Order: sequence, then structure tokens, then C-alpha cells
Amino acid sequence: MKRNQVNSRLVLVSNRLPFTVIKSGSEVKIRPSTGGLITAINPVLSKSGGLWVGWPGIFEQLDFDDAFTHWQKSTGYKVQSVSLDKDEHDNFYHGFSNEILWPLFHDLQSRCNFFNTDYWTSYISVNRKFAEVVEQSIFPNDRIWVHDYQLINVGQELKKLKIKSKIAFFLHIPFPPPDIFFKLPWRENILNALLEYDLIGFQTYHDKNNFIQCVRILIKQAHCSSLRKEKVTKIQKSSKQTIASHFPIGIDYRGFVSDSLQSEVLKQAKDIRESFLNRQIILGVDRLDYTKGITCKLEAFRKALKLFPQLHQKIILIQILVPSRKDIPEYRLMKSEIERLVSEINGEFTKPGWVPINYIFNTLNRSELLAYYRAADIALVTPLKDGMNLVAKEYCATKTDGNGVLILSEFAGAADQSHLGALLVNPYSIEDVANKIYVAFVMNKTERQAYMRKIQKAVKRYDVFWWANSFLKTWETYSCDSKLKLIENKTKNLIPNTSNTNNNSSSKMFIKLLGK
Ligand code: UDP
Ligand code: G6P
Repeated sequence: MKRNQVNSRLVLVSNRLPFTVIKSGSEVKIRPSTGGLITAINPVLSKSGGLWVGWPGIFEQLDFDDAFTHWQKSTGYKVQSVSLDKDEHDNFYHGFSNEILWPLFHDLQSRCNFFNTDYWTSYISVNRKFAEVVEQSIFPNDRIWVHDYQLINVGQELKKLKIKSKIAFFLHIPFPPPDIFFKLPWRENILNALLEYDLIGFQTYHDKNNFIQCVRILIKQAHCSSLRKEKVTKIQKSSKQTIASHFPIGIDYRGFVSDSLQSEVLKQAKDIRESFLNRQIILGVDRLDYTKGITCKLEAFRKALKLFPQLHQKIILIQILVPSRKDIPEYRLMKSEIERLVSEINGEFTKPGWVPINYIFNTLNRSELLAYYRAADIALVTPLKDGMNLVAKEYCATKTDGNGVLILSEFAGAADQSHLGALLVNPYSIEDVANKIYVAFVMNKTERQAYMRKIQKAVKRYDVFWWANSFLKTWETYSCDSKLKLIENKTKNLIPNTSNTNNNSSSKMFIKLLGK
């Protein structure tokens, strides 16, 4: 730990850094990383300043200094890399994180590979490595905020290193119910590791509740008591108290609105619209991941074309697939399956001048992505299970004229907040999704706007700064840190779902809480 104390900083720890380092000849380049965690948190840390600790996406030990300084200048926060070798990465990231925790926590236990014992050993040693880098990078008053399923054990490893700082954790993905979680051979280890944090945040009430039920059944020494008024649960295990609550993550709503009105985006959106004149555009944007329900979505689109011939030549589906986790066999197989389905459906329905599915396999830059959002009449977001799903929220933010429809899986965390304004579907029912495609297609502009304004109101109010504030405020309330208590008097009503915080105060408050 560094000795010279400066103001308390927020130290954010996640598996991925917000950018990925690429070596191009002798040059070191960086490109923004993808995924909801990065999109959501980057604007938060940019406002507060602080430090982001994570893996730079490359095994070679290069001189990152210039790239890191450049990033720091443009974002206002520092970065610290954690180096991993290929074996560590294979077992920790591909293995334990993405072949066990990821499918299990998304209720897809049949996709879990429980039998490689190297995975768990490596998960612990890599979490230890992250903890060591954090330990070397922090000042005593820093607050350490660890993110997501890849790093659950970092808190416990920090405690073993005798770190006294406050440590909190946020899980971006769902937490499964006991009957699914109990399949995990390391179930007690994971729960005990989570109970080392001062505060654990979940995306939804349901996720938090699943976690509490697991603790009640499996951890006999733990006593859980719910403080209903504040929507938090206190877990006392020996002398350690942990608070659990839910904080649905949001987006930088204002940032998305203003970027979507940039002339470059407007021009690209117009070009997209003009290439599909007199047709409604349905848009799908998903990382290539089996949790996203892409094959079910394609089957539902096929069903809609079969059931409703009125849609022929009047509708197209643009499906953007963002490459992801390509070294995991399941992901590669899924890509082939999706491409087979796309060509089958196009083969079945194409007519002169009309190809029903436009398929893009690429990572888009921000302005291209926003242009597709703006151009789309309907967004089709049908994950089988998703912690939140930020694509759904981003789409709504960019429809500034309100003329768009969101079809959303009831199994996405975002459904909890958008039920009044989205067409909810069961993604496993291709009939249901096909019918909702038709309902969306025939909806007139006034109806669309009425629905869309409701979602926009919620997405705007509960934006990512509201999320960060709610989390920090809860952390402050239940920690015995006098520095934070001083600020508490000025920051009433920020506990999630009990407040009527408006967006402006939320954004200002965030900066205050971090001492700027
Ligand atoms: N995204 C991106 N590049 C793309 C397409 C999407 O960076 O080409 C971003 C998108 O803006 C969103 C994130 O990827 O913020 C996806 O987040 P989501 O919560 O929907 O799902 P996740 O990929 O995190 O499971
Ligand atoms: C989800 C996870 C994140 C992850 C992202 C992209 O959003 O919650 O932790 O970073 O997917 O996945 P990747 O494996 O490429 O980091």
C-alpha cells in the first residue's frame, strides 16, 4: 500500500480495462472494450476521477505508458494493469468465469463444465493477483469497488493481505436461485468470499433475494435481517457485517441523447433509412453469446414472416452480432448456427429487392451504433436471461422523437424498470415474440410515442449516476467512515427505490460523494 495519503479515491477493479491493448507492428494501440460493464462505468469514473485496475487484453508485457497516459488525459482517471499469462487467462477467464459461473448464473447449468479442477485453482490465484496489484496501488483511505463474477474472491484476498480499506462488490449478471446455485461444487467458497465485502450490490431485487436464500440455507453462522424500509439486508457472520441490496444499473442517458444528435450520427442514420425506404427496420444488437437468445429471435422472426405475410417486403431485421469470447468452443458453434439460420431464412423469403435479414458480424464504433439505434423503428431485445441489458436502454435514449418500439424479454433486468413502456415477451416462446413483432409493426406513431416516453422517463431518472450515487450512499450509510458521514447530511433520499431523486441532483451528488 502507498504511504502518502491523498484525498479518498474510488478504485474500481474489473477483469477488463475500459480499453484493450493491441500490438500493431512495433506500435501499441488501444481500442475501447465492449460490453455493458464498460459502457456504464466509464462515464462514472470519468466524472469522479480515481483509478481503474484491470487486465489490458494482451499477454505480452509491453510498455503501456504512452497509451495509459493518453487514456488518462482523455478520461480523467488513472489506469493500472494486471498482467496475466495465457494459461492463467485460459483457466480463470475462459474456464471458471465463462464455462462455469457465466452459464450457471444465467440458469443454463447444462452448459457448465464443472469437471476441470484447474479452473477453480486458477480463479483463486488470479483473484489473488488482482488483489496484490490493488494492494500496491492504493492509498489507505481509498474505497475499493470490485466488479462482476470474474473477481468475486478479490475482496477475500485483499483481507488476507490485511487491507483495511472499505471494499464493496457489484454483480452485473443475475444471481441464480438456490436449486441452481447449489450445483456449484465451490458454492460455500463463493458465498463466504462475497460475505467479506462491506456491501454487495445486485441488479434486481430478485437477484438479491436469491443470494440471501442461498446464504440462509448454506452458511449456518450467518444471520440475515431485512431492513424493509431501506430495502437492504444485513448479514452478520461472526463479527463481520455485510449489507446486500439491489441497484439497477443505468446508462449515461444525457450522453447518449447528445451524442445521438451529432451531425455525423444523424447523417449515418439517414443513410441507413434511405437504404431501406418504405420498410420498417427491426434492430437486434447482441454480443455473440448464448444467453442473448439470438437463435430463438431468428426463429421468431421466421415465424412472424410465416404468420403475417403483410410483413413481406415491409420489414427487415438488422442483426448486429458483436464478436465475443471466440476461444470458447460453445461460442464458435453458436456463430455457425446463427449464420446457418440467417441464410436459411433469407433463402426462404427473399424476393427481388428484399432480403429480410441484414446480418453484421462486427464491433461498431459509437457513432455507427447510435445511427443504427436512431434508424430503427423497433428494437428486438430477447435475452434468455440478462443481468440488465443496456442495449435496451441505449436504444430508448437515442429515440429522441419517441417514435420507436422496444420489444423486451421479461428475463432481462431492464424489464423490471420498463414494463409500462415496453412490449414484454417470453423469449422462449417464438409465437409470443412473432406476435409482438406484428403488434409493434402496426402500432401508430402516437401509440409508439406514448409507450416510449414512459420508458425514457424511467431510463433518464434512473441513469448511471443515480446508480452510482445510490450505491455509494448505501455504502456510506452503513460504514463507520467519518469522512463519508460528513457528506451524508447533504445527501438524503438516495437509497434505491425509496427515493425520488431527480437526475440533476443525482449527477451533482456523485461528485460530492467522491470529494471533488
Ligand atoms: N456495444 C458496443 N459495440 C457494439 C455493440 C454494442 O460497445 O458494436 C455496447 C453497447 O453500447 C452496450 C454493450 O455493448 O453498452 C452491451 O451491453 P449489454 O448490457 O446489452 O450486454 P452485455 O454485452 O454487457 O452482456
Ligand atoms: C458482460 C459481463 C462483463 C463483461 C462483458 C463482456 O457484460 O457482465 O463483465 O466484461 O459481458 O464480456 P467479456 O468476456 O468480453 O469481458
